[in-house]
Amino acid sequence: MTDTNYKRVEVMRFLAQSMDSIVAEYLKNIDTNWQPGDLLPDSTSENFEEEIREIRLQSKELPYDYMAVLIGDVITEEALPTYQGWLLDVDGITQMEPQGWCKWVRMWTAEENRHGDLLNKYLYLSGRVNMKQMEISTQYLIADGFDIGTGQDPYKNFVYTSFQEMATNVSHRRTATMAKQYGCDRLAKICGVISSDEARHAAAYKSFIASIFEIDASEMMLAFEDMMRKKIVMPAHFLRQAGQKIGETFSHFSDAAQRLGVYTSHDYTNILESLIKEWNISNVTGLTDGGEKARDYLMGLPERFRRIAGRGSKAQLEYQYNWIK
Ligand SMILES: [Fe+2]
Ligand SMILES: [Fe+2]
Repeated sequence: MTDTNYKRVEVMRFLAQSMDSIVAEYLKNIDTNWQPGDLLPDSTSENFEEEIREIRLQSKELPYDYMAVLIGDVITEEALPTYQGWLLDVDGITQMEPQGWCKWVRMWTAEENRHGDLLNKYLYLSGRVNMKQMEISTQYLIADGFDIGTGQDPYKNFVYTSFQEMATNVSHRRTATMAKQYGCDRLAKICGVISSDEARHAAAYKSFIASIFEIDASEMMLAFEDMMRKKIVMPAHFLRQAGQKIGETFSHFSDAAQRLGVYTSHDYTNILESLIKEWNISNVTGLTDGGEKARDYLMGLPERFRRIAGRGSKAQLEYQYNWIK
């Protein structure tokens, strides 16, 4: 292990001393937390069939792009084994210390697991989805894994998760608003509760980075810079359908999200800008020369992205997915 890795493990150990209060602040009690069953028709109830009929009728109103985005979101959520496996491999996180960061990863995973479960069951009932094809894509995405450019560095990983939890908060919130506009009240509620979980998780990961900035400012700044230079890739960047090459469907999914306005390049820039504010990047003190340079790069980045985004055009082509009936 290099000196840098060693220092990171030390920082992680130090932060893990507060694990009980971190969990209490950012995660919910399991006994009282919502579960997918709270938001779905109850199959033991007399009204079950009627409620399913209602879901099927309402789901007919959802446009093609919307269905594509929702299915892509479900597959992304269902690839949770990849995310948990990745985080458990990060420096300073070990299953040998179950009361340390491992506790966070397990409890966060347990909360996240409800998202794919809930959305998957809703889509099954909607009558709009070729379940087998969606399931093939899910199996592929888990089998293909991902490479998010963080390595095993906890600083880079927590930048990534801060960013991603904010991105999923935005996208689920927008799919909720649109579902309401299309008259799908139950789906609006489903996307809404998931979105608020993501906001809580984002707050947690952002707080981890804020704590690291207090202890190891220059290294944290360099890690943030490195992630932004590489660009934050989406967790489903390897998305594909049956018979395709790795990642072949991802750009179509992301074009659909951009067209619908569920998640756009402006959102990417806005998230970056809010992270810069949240971590008070302009006022971090005690930086090395390298840290100062990294800060300068980061401070100028939102403006640069805005200039480029202004020139971009929207992909107009509607792609035919085998997921949608
Ligand atoms: Fe999620
Ligand atoms: Fe999340």
